[in-house]
Amino acid sequence: MDMPNFEKELLSYLPETDDKIKTVVSSMEYSLSAGGKRIRPFLVLEFAKLCGGSETNAMPFACAVEMIHTYSLIHDDLPCMDNDDLRRGKPTNHKVFGEAAALLGGDGLLTLAFETALSQKAVSLNGYEKCAKAAFTLAKYAGAVGMIGGQIIDLESENKKIPLETLQIMDKKKTGALIAAACVMGCISAGASEEQIQSAVGYAENIGIAFQIVDDILDVTSDTETLGKPVGSDYENNKSTYVSLLGIDECRKISSDLTEKAVEYLKKFDGDITELENFAYYLRDRKK
Ligand code: IPE
Ligand code: IPE
Ligand code: MG
Ligand code: MG
Ligand code: MG
Repeated sequence: MDMPNFEKELLSYLPETDDKIKTVVSSMEYSLSAGGKRIRPFLVLEFAKLCGGSETNAMPFACAVEMIHTYSLIHDDLPCMDNDDLRRGKPTNHKVFGEAAALLGGDGLLTLAFETALSQKAVSLNGYEKCAKAAFTLAKYAGAVGMIGGQIIDLESENKKIPLETLQIMDKKKTGALIAAACVMGCISAGASEEQIQSAVGYAENIGIAFQIVDDILDVTSDTETLGKPVGSDYENNKSTYVSLLGIDECRKISSDLTEKAVEYLKKFDGDITELENFAYYLRDRKK
């Protein structure tokens, strides 16, 4: 994954620090600059290129998606949610800044995502119409029917056995939705057709569920140093996951099947799909 300009551009949207608001801006910057795999921005840029657009134009949208993702992780780690102490190899945001500033830092990033997607830079590169469509897409997929909805299903599924169908809906929303937003926003930047967008969603939904299944597997099989976040968190919180319901071997098979399905959707595109095809397999085989 080669995105030479991404890290610098991502931080460039943070507000100027003035002394009075320093705590919240530092909280935002702490999590935004902590690294991570940056898979969602990569998808924005790759779908933009696949549909005939450019990395430069799609870059503000890539930054916006990563801001939403980073905020979701800050909130996901809070004591009232998964109560985790380590993220991206560093103490979690609330361990450093306290719960209130972590909550507000997350809120700050959530809001900044839309400021970024609708920024002067985004508008001068993509025009008002594409920026509005991209921001609408991000809001829809990140909101209560998307990622937030998945998070509430996740919390309400602790300490009980839920049907496979509910698990599938949960993963599609909590993880698949933002991955879908990323792919669609890349398409929008490139002025893709509705048909292309539907194929991108097909790819995204399949790699999205596969991605969460692999995340659940790694929570059991990996170690904290490799992962940069605590292993065994799902077990400790008595979470409902694919692994807790079906076991690891079955989960590996399902994630492979979903990956193959995702790759099939790529064949509907005319351009060079090599990068996105390899990416689906990288996500399936990843160790962190
Ligand atoms: C973790 O996402 C949360 C899930 C949706 C499973 P990532 O595994 O993409 O986290 P980072 O960005 O690399 O830290
Ligand atoms: C998190 O899922 C999904 C979102 C943050 C939307 P997890 O709770 O499994 O993610 P990790 O394992 O803490 O990264
Ligand atoms: Mg969680
Ligand atoms: Mg978690
Ligand atoms: Mg997890």
